[in-house]
Amino acid sequence: MEALIAKTAEVLATSKNAIALTGAGISTESGIPDFRSPGGLWTRVDPGEFSIDRFLQNPSRFWRMHLDLKSSGDFDLASADPNPAHYALARMEQMGILKCIITQNVDNLHQRAGSVEVVEFHGNLLRAACMKCRSLEPIEDVEARIESGESEAPRCRNCGGLLKPDAVFFGEAIPSRALMISQVQSQKCDVLIVVGTSLQVYPAAQIPLSVKLKHPPAVVVEVNREPSSLHEQVTDILMIGSAGDILSRLLEALETRVNLH
Ligand code: APR
Repeated sequence: MEALIAKTAEVLATSKNAIALTGAGISTESGIPDFRSPGGLWTRVDPGEFSIDRFLQNPSRFWRMHLDLKSSGDFDLASADPNPAHYALARMEQMGILKCIITQNVDNLHQRAGSVEVVEFHGNLLRAACMKCRSLEPIEDVEARIESGESEAPRCRNCGGLLKPDAVFFGEAIPSRALMISQVQSQKCDVLIVVGTSLQVYPAAQIPLSVKLKHPPAVVVEVNREPSSLHEQVTDILMIGSAGDILSRLLEALETRVNLH
């Protein structure tokens, strides 16, 4: 692993446009389960519960499930804190090495760790959005309105439209701004670090495939507990283990290299 970390530090230190693509695996060390590992959320909750059709059929039912997952601690994003992996990527941005993070996560932990250029590819579950006028409300305000009995399916205070968590549900489009920025960043990048994602969900999984089609192809570094489903097609440097441990050691190697030059 030391040799892989040293090689990755060299690749990053000499890169011009390194970006990261992160998934749920970067937040498991913050206490948020991922989706497809043993014990992951989809091994306990039907993913169909997070489809837009199911939400529209019965929004009250969704909000009850949302509050149950939060109160049971099974998926309580508000109580989670950034872990060393989030902080390492934020530091790499401050060093001018990492230009942007495209995250599939909806937990806001990259921003709370200090990362600035964060593309929320699947939205953000810590806010709710009106499906009519797009105005936003903190999710805890909406949760309070449900828990106080004011409403089982809260509506927008501006226009009366239905409120929905501002995360991308199955069957919904990726927010156009996020998609556009991700495409621009992917086309510009010369290094892509993929952290904590199984690369099973599109169009996010298209990102590492697209950067390998560039001329010259970007270097893809993968940090995962187990190899992603695309590692044979896209990964140049594969580091298997804890994101918190590997990214902290990578940051240390980067800072040592930068200080020596
Ligand atoms: N360190 C490194 N890798 C980890 C860690 C960790 N501490 N914990 C888990 N992983 C790895 C797992 O081995 C797995 O490969 O992270 C990956 C998580 O994969 P998924 O659970 O499939 O999560 P993700 O790839 O983010 O899912 C993509 O699917 O359901 C949708 O919208 C949801 O954004 C999500 C998308």
